[in-house]
Amino acid sequence: MPIGIFDSGVGGLSVLREIRRLLPRHDLIYYGDSAYCPYGLRDPAQIRSRSLTIARFLADRGAGPVVVACNTASIAALDYLRGLLAVPVVGMEPAVKPAAEGTRNGRIGVLATQVTLAGDRYNNLKEKFARQAEVVSVPCPGLVEMVEAGLTTGPAVEELLSECLSPMIGRKVDTIVLGSTHYHFLREAVQKVAGPDVLVIDTARAVACQTRRVTGDTVTPEEGRWAFFTSGQASGVQPVVRALLDDQELTVTEKPL
Ligand code: DGL
Repeated sequence: MPIGIFDSGVGGLSVLREIRRLLPRHDLIYYGDSAYCPYGLRDPAQIRSRSLTIARFLADRGAGPVVVACNTASIAALDYLRGLLAVPVVGMEPAVKPAAEGTRNGRIGVLATQVTLAGDRYNNLKEKFARQAEVVSVPCPGLVEMVEAGLTTGPAVEELLSECLSPMIGRKVDTIVLGSTHYHFLREAVQKVAGPDVLVIDTARAVACQTRRVTGDTVTPEEGRWAFFTSGQASGVQPVVRALLDDQELTVTEKPL
């Protein structure tokens, strides 16, 4: 069975990459909802409906499990999807727990979308694991769009990051959680702006480990194949996917849903 993976756009490729590393013989199907990106500014009801449409598309192509490689969609739609789909659904959440466990000065920053930060799931996470810590949660509108455009380094990215990170840097956090899968690709820029003493973490690897627990290590002798679909324009999305995955051969197919 292939593993289905989706995100609002190209951010979930960070999770796909980790899954690929851990499960190189599994076939993967990826759907990026770039025509509806960013999810972080949308109504949660619309995110639930988009997520269900995409998850069904993946399940209909034989995928199981379906991995919600998007913090925003997981916050808004995970329980909903699990209630409606027959296949296992793997979700994700900002790495608040490891950050709260690892912080030395009790101060952590979380960079995530508005929808994620306003979600009950996120607030429960803080309540459960980070009661003793000071958590500085900050949205950063515009950042996801930069990654969608293939911009992950350089002055424009750093300028926006300096603005967004300033409340957490001002509070001297020692750990920054990248709470959107898109931000994974900005790690270097975040580290540069925050300084070398700040630990920058996310959950791409943990989600891949959870996916392996769900699928088991089933293997064919060959390398797995991957298929990429987008609701956006393939001519714009494909070069970004190729650059982010450092693979000039792969093809992205346009598939509006
Ligand atoms: N990549 C997504 C996340 O993990 C969503 C970003 C967005 O579409 O706003 O939160």
